Amino acid sequence: MAKRATKLGIVKGQGAYLTDEKGEKYLDFAAGVGVVNCGHNNPIVVEAIEKQLHDLVHGGHNVVYYPSYIELAEKLVARVGNDYKVYFSNSGAEANEGAVKLALSVTKRSGIIAFNSSFHGRTLLTAAMTASNAQYRKNYEGVLPPVYHVDFPDIYNTKLSEKEEVARCLEQLEQVFHNILAPSQTACIVVEPVQGEGGYLPAPKEFLVKLREICDRFGILLIFDEVQSGYGRTGNLFAKDHYGIQPDVLTSAKGIANGIPLSAVIGKKEYMDKWEPGAHGGTFGGNPLACAAGSAVLDIMDTDFLEHVKTVGAYFTVKLQKLQEKYPVISSVRGLGLMIAIEFRKDGGKPATALVAKVREKALQQHLILLNCGVFHNVIRFIPPLIIEKSDVDKAIAILDTSIGSSLKEVGES
Ligand SMILES: Cc1ncc(COP(=O)(O)O)c(C=O)c1O
Repeated sequence: MAKRATKLGIVKGQGAYLTDEKGEKYLDFAAGVGVVNCGHNNPIVVEAIEKQLHDLVHGGHNVVYYPSYIELAEKLVARVGNDYKVYFSNSGAEANEGAVKLALSVTKRSGIIAFNSSFHGRTLLTAAMTASNAQYRKNYEGVLPPVYHVDFPDIYNTKLSEKEEVARCLEQLEQVFHNILAPSQTACIVVEPVQGEGGYLPAPKEFLVKLREICDRFGILLIFDEVQSGYGRTGNLFAKDHYGIQPDVLTSAKGIANGIPLSAVIGKKEYMDKWEPGAHGGTFGGNPLACAAGSAVLDIMDTDFLEHVKTVGAYFTVKLQKLQEKYPVISSVRGLGLMIAIEFRKDGGKPATALVAKVREKALQQHLILLNCGVFHNVIRFIPPLIIEKSDVDKAIAILDTSIGSSLKEVGES
C-alpha cells in the first residue's frame, strides 16, 4: 500500500497552492513529489489538454502514429541532442525498466550497477536497483534481479575532501569490477545526477566525468535517471546540463507533463536503432493527452522559466543558510535550482530524524506541505512548483523558522 505524507483531502490546486475540502489553502512545497513543476492547473497546460481531448484521447503507440507524440519526441530530441531518440511510457519506474532493458538488449550483457542510497522505482527491477530503504525490498528479495551497488559520494557527511570521497566511491566500483562483475559483463551503470530520495545529493562533477570515462572504456551504457532531477527542477531542463555530460540513455517522468502520467526513455540513436521492434512496448505509453501536456510544458520552459528557477532557488538557498546560522542542528544546505534540501544532525553527527518529523508536522499545521528524504529521513527537501515567487519562499521560511524553533523545544535535537 502507498504511504501518504499527510492526511489532507484536496479538492483543488492552483499555482503553488492546494485547497482542502474545508476550503483551507496550503502552500505546496511537495508538488505531488516534484511533478507539477509549472504549477497546479497551469492554464497553458490545461488548454493544451482540453484541445487534444477533442481530437484524440488514445491511439496506442503500438498501433498508429499521432501528431502529439511525434511533436513531443521531436521537441525533446531538439533539446537533448539530434543523436537521440525517444520512447514514451507512463511512469518513472517504467522508463527506468525500459532504459535497462535497452542496455541489456543492445550490449547482450546482463550486469547492472547502481548506487547506494539511490531510488529508481518500485517495480521488481527498479526496486532491485533502489538502495535507499530496505522497506522497498522487504519480502521481495528472492525475486529481485541481481544489481551491484556502489557508494554514491556524500561530501556533506564525510571528513574526506570531495576528491577523496569521489576516489573512495570509484575504488568501490573498481572492486566490484574486480571481485564480482567484470566490466565486459556489465550492461549499464544507472545513476541519478542528483540523488533524490537518497537526500538531495548533487553528484560531484568529477564523479560523473569518471563514470562517463569508465563506460566509454568498457562499452557500458551510462544511464542517467532524471525522473526527479529533470524538467527544470535544478534550473536547467536536465541536471546533466550542469555537468556538461551526455549519458547514453536518460530517463524522464514526473514533471514531463505537469501531472498527466508520462515518462520517456531518451537514448542515443545508435542504441535505440538496435533495440528490436517489439522488444519493448506498452498500451498507454505516450498517450495523446499526456504528450499534448508535455509539449505545452516545454513551450513554457522555453521562456524565462529556467532563469526564474535559478533566481528563486538562489534566493531560497541564501534564506536557508541564514536559518542554518540560527539553528546549528541544520548540518547542511544543498541542492541545485529548486531541488534544495536541509539536513538535520545533532552534535556529533547523529541524524535528527524525530526532529524532522516534528518540523514537518508543525509546518503542516501552518499550512506548508513539506517532504523529507535521506536514508535516515533526517533531510527536509524543498520541491515546490517551479513558478513560486520570492514571497512564497519568504512565507515558507517564516513557517519553517517557527516550526524548527518550537520543535527543538519539544523534541530537542533527537
Ligand atoms: C529518481 C527517481 N527515479 C524513479 C522514480 C520512480 O518514478 P515513479 O514513481 O513515477 O515510478 C522516482 C520517484 O520518486 C525517482 O525520484
